[in-house]
Parts: sequence; C-alpha cells; structure tokens
Amino acid sequence: MQDDPIPSVKFPNGTEVPALGLGTWAMGEDAGHAKMEIESLMAGINLGMTLIDTAEMYGDGGAEEIVGQAIRGRRDEVFLVSKVYPWNASLKGTVEACEHSLERLGTDRIDLYLLHWRGNHPLAETVAAFEMLKASGKIGAWGVSNFDTDDMEELLRVPDGANVAANQVLYNLSRRGIEYDLLPWCQSRGIPIMAYSPIEQGHILHHPELIHIAKAYQATPAQLALAFLLERDGVIAIPKTSNAERVAENRDCVSLEITDEDWQALDAAFPPPAMKKSLEML
Ligand SMILES: NC(=O)c1ccc[n+]([C@@H]2O[C@H](COP(=O)([O-])OP(=O)(O)OC[C@H]3O[C@@H](n4cnc5c(N)ncnc54)[C@H](OP(=O)(O)O)[C@@H]3O)[C@@H](O)[C@H]2O)c1
Repeated sequence: MQDDPIPSVKFPNGTEVPALGLGTWAMGEDAGHAKMEIESLMAGINLGMTLIDTAEMYGDGGAEEIVGQAIRGRRDEVFLVSKVYPWNASLKGTVEACEHSLERLGTDRIDLYLLHWRGNHPLAETVAAFEMLKASGKIGAWGVSNFDTDDMEELLRVPDGANVAANQVLYNLSRRGIEYDLLPWCQSRGIPIMAYSPIEQGHILHHPELIHIAKAYQATPAQLALAFLLERDGVIAIPKTSNAERVAENRDCVSLEITDEDWQALDAAFPPPAMKKSLEML
C-alpha cells in the first residue's frame, strides 16, 4: 500500500533519508526517452522515494540533466546523490567536477557526493577536496562507492577520512558477499550502505524460488528482492526504472511482511556468504 511509510536510514550527520530511493544509470542517453525518465523520477518523488542517485558518468552528464528537470521547483523535497569519476578526483578536479554536476542538476547543493570507485589520486587529496566542497556548502556530506572493508579501513586513516557518510556497493540477493564483513563493519560505525543494482539489473527476477515465494504474498519478484534489502539496518536500496508503473510497484515493497520461514527459504535459494569474498562491482 502506498500509504505505508518507507523506513528511513540516518546518516552520521543526523540527516534521515528514505531507505528506498531512485537510481538513474542509463538515463539521459536517448532524448526520445527523456519524458518517460523525468516522469518516472517525478512519480517516485511523489511516492516518497525522495533520494535520487546519479553520477557525472551516467549518460555522460545526461542523467544529471534529467534529474535536474525532474526536481525543478521542488529541490527541497529531494536528497541528491552524485559521484565524481576517479580520474577527476584530484583536489582541483573534484571541485570542478562537482561544479559541473551542480550546473547540470540546476542546483547549488548536492546532498551527498561520492567517489565513484578508487582510482590513482591519493584518497587524502580527494577527501581534502570533499571537505572544501562541504565547507563551501556545495555538498552536504561525502562518501565513497565500491570500497571494500580494507579500503574503508585505509580511508579512516586519512585526515578527515572518518567523515565518510556512506559507501555505495553492489548488494542484492545474488550478491551477498558484503554480509560477511563490510556490511557489519559499516553498521557498527553507523555508516549507511547504499545497495546498487538491488534487483541485479533485472536478472534475478526470473529466479524460480524468488518468483515462488513472492507469489505467496501476491507480490512481484522485484518487490521481494527489495524487501530483502530493506529488512537490513542501515541499507538504502536505489532501484532504477524509467517506467512510472514499476516505480509504484517497487515502492510497494515496503508493505511486504515476510515470515521467518520464507526468509529461510530465500537464504536457501540465495545463500549468505560463509567466507570473505572480495567486493564485486558492476
Ligand atoms: N556506484 C556504482 O558503481 C553503481 C553501479 C551500478 C548502479 N549504480 C546505481 O544504482 C542504481 C540501480 O542499479 P542498476 O540500474 O544497475 O540496476 P537495478 O536497479 O538492479 O535494475 C535496473 C533494471 O531493472 C529494471 N526494473 C526496475 N524495476 C523493475 C521492476 N519492478 N520489474 C522489472 N524490471 C524492473 C529496469 O528497467 P526499466 O527502466 O525498463 O524499468 C532496469 O533495466 C543505478 O541506476 C545507479 O544509480 C551505482
């Protein structure tokens, strides 16, 4: 039911966001799809999925422009997340990349700005740039993406590295590796995990056991896959769809109340990790 509230997740600075947001990868690539993409994001905002995840990479800046159009006149209703390419993540390059993103988004503030993945620029330099952007009010907080536990530990040893507000990683039923170490590491420090590709880009939706269990709740496989993520503390799922009906379908995952028995059946179909696995990336 769309009246059921979306659970929230708190960032270290106290800001609360919905645990279910909107992804934008592959948006802004084709002008013919722009209207549909903008409408799907607007539908999501209307349904309370007010966290929007984008990046300078997506559509070569095109996705940020789509987001800019979707939030026009309602900037204060949304929590904007964008990302800097690793090769732009020098002291000067990070600031410039952020300013370009702000222009495309049509705003003067990105709420959470992430290093998209690790590159060759020293972490200390990227963090210093993030702190400068924070001091100037251009970003509200900063974080990282695709960082495994050892990367996070290294980050914490860098000056101001402990100000990291989030880590965005690949996490879904078929990619549970982080449950072994990274997820508990982040949870114990109050650092939210943003689960990207939460339905494995659509590929897990054909899994027979997922379909079977979802059916018992008159739910869709996507809803069950998202409910699995929302069940975990400090996890924000950011499914992407350019279809307003699917946005509403995904939103409804919050109403699912799964029995312990069915969670166990899901664990049997998608086993949690028994040992450390290196973080996977898409
Ligand atoms: N930090 C990183 O390195 C990184 C990497 C990957 C992704 N991300 C972020 O995470 C977001 C989500 O990940 P993702 O886009 O890779 O994959 P995803 O959200 O797991 O899946 C997106 C795909 O599933 C389809 N879909 C969505 N809802 C559906 C539903 N209810 N039923 C059937 N199909 C559905 C979409 O198609 P339609 O659009 O046609 O509905 C799209 O093809 C991205 O958009 C991006 O913002 C970050």
